[in-house]
Amino acid sequence: MSAPSSRAGKLALVTGASRGIGRATAIALARRGAAVALAARYADGCTGTAAAIREGGGTAASLHAANLADTRAATALGEDIIARHGRLDILANNAGLSTLGTVDAVTPSELARVLAVNVTAPWALMRAVLPGMKARGAGIVINLCSSRAHIPGKGCGACCASKAWLLRLTQCLHQEIVGSGVQVFAFSPGLTLTDMVRDIYDRADAPMALPLEAVPPPERAAQVIGWLAGGEAGDLAGLDIAIQFNDVTRRAGLETGEGEPSWC
Ligand SMILES: NC(=O)c1ccc[n+]([C@@H]2O[C@H](COP(=O)([O-])OP(=O)(O)OC[C@H]3O[C@@H](n4cnc5c(N)ncnc54)[C@H](OP(=O)(O)O)[C@@H]3O)[C@@H](O)[C@H]2O)c1
Repeated sequence: MSAPSSRAGKLALVTGASRGIGRATAIALARRGAAVALAARYADGCTGTAAAIREGGGTAASLHAANLADTRAATALGEDIIARHGRLDILANNAGLSTLGTVDAVTPSELARVLAVNVTAPWALMRAVLPGMKARGAGIVINLCSSRAHIPGKGCGACCASKAWLLRLTQCLHQEIVGSGVQVFAFSPGLTLTDMVRDIYDRADAPMALPLEAVPPPERAAQVIGWLAGGEAGDLAGLDIAIQFNDVTRRAGLETGEGEPSWC
């Protein structure tokens, strides 16, 4: 475990904590002293993440199964967290889908599923936990957005639309809560080596610009999320934060200046 930090004694919820950026985020938050509630679709989905947290001396506070494509399940997850733990200090809305398909090929039900997981579930969770955060005058919400909110791509309509929606939702919320002590961030992690990206590379009909071996690991994005969760980045709340911009990587401690990125 690293030294106690401003995340120590806090309860965090990470959705999509079974793998990828969510798994790395949960481990990063636990290393920084937060007790972490882990959520994924299936009951056993987060047992590996919980084991890794405990091996590192951290606290996996609870494990939750919730299919976030179902808005009632998302709302129930938020309510369950408050009922079990009495509060939530850090919410990382990480679970996400990236359905590929041209605009005329994506079916209404596929589009609805992407929007439900990527937009409605974060909204439902924020709705469940914000009253407590506002009442305490403290809380951090981090919504995993994407450069796809700005950059269109063939076959990416559903994903692009959902991330643009989540970005604006985050920014509107920021305007509503600014000054309340609650901080909300829209964070785009950049291309990251996870199942989502392996799938995109597998299906690509032409070589991708960046070879798969050069795509950064999820620990890189997780380090930034862990930093945002510490409350020291309030000047970035409500902005459209991309990992590549805003001096974010240096401020989050990713650039050691010694040749080795600090996520290694
Ligand atoms: N990787 C990138 O390059 C990249 C770039 C920009 C933005 N992002 C964003 O970063 C976030 C994490 O992406 P990732 O690359 O780590 O994805 P990933 O490896 O595909 O993992 C997705 C996570 O979301 C969960 N999830 C998916 N559908 C769900 C559902 N219906 N209900 C509950 N949980 C569900 C999965 O849980 P199960 O194990 O239960 O399926 C899994 O834990 C996403 O919001 C993504 O859009 C990623």
